[in-house]
Amino acid sequence: MQKQAEYSEAIRTKYPEQVVIAIAKDKAGRANPVTLGWTMIVSGNPPMMSIAVAKKHYSIETITHSKCFTISFPSAQMADAALFFGSKSGRNIDKFAEFDCKTEPAQAIDSVLLADAVANFECTLESQIPAGDHIIFVGKIVASHINTEPKKRLYTIGPGHKLGPTS
Ligand SMILES: Cc1cc2nc3c(=O)[nH]c(=O)nc-3n(C[C@H](O)[C@H](O)[C@H](O)COP(=O)(O)O)c2cc1C
Repeated sequence: MQKQAEYSEAIRTKYPEQVVIAIAKDKAGRANPVTLGWTMIVSGNPPMMSIAVAKKHYSIETITHSKCFTISFPSAQMADAALFFGSKSGRNIDKFAEFDCKTEPAQAIDSVLLADAVANFECTLESQIPAGDHIIFVGKIVASHINTEPKKRLYTIGPGHKLGPTS
């Protein structure tokens, strides 16, 4: 049986929610990582993924400028990096200069990969769709990478950006 509830109450049932870190370079060539929970796979053939980015975020500028981005699946050990990249704006600071997070060059696009992530996906910008206060960016996967060591993925496990593994 169901009872009607406020959206704000009902949506709190969504956890755990996967966390990704998207990375795109700005006009100055500086890679800017942003933490995102609103993401999904949208096509299997060709493989495509989407991310929803708030219109006010600096990442709107970096992704529309470079027309490509990395989607990284952070490992459970990367919670501090995810919180830092998800609370500071690249409009004001160089996030990779201020938070020690190992990167590797991307192979097929002008971006970087996160070395300690579970997996990284290189995307070219396929389309963008306005959705309320966010823009959905659809990326076509042009290269994929997995960590050489087994690692658990990072999730938001509860409200207030409580991050951790699911088990
Ligand atoms: C766990 C977590 C999930 C987040 N999910 C999203 C999201 O799905 N979409 C979004 O626009 N911002 C999301 N944010 C907020 C952005 O990461 C944050 O505002 C960031 O500082 C924006 O950086 P930028 O201005 O460099 O783009 C999330 C933050 C955290 C910590």
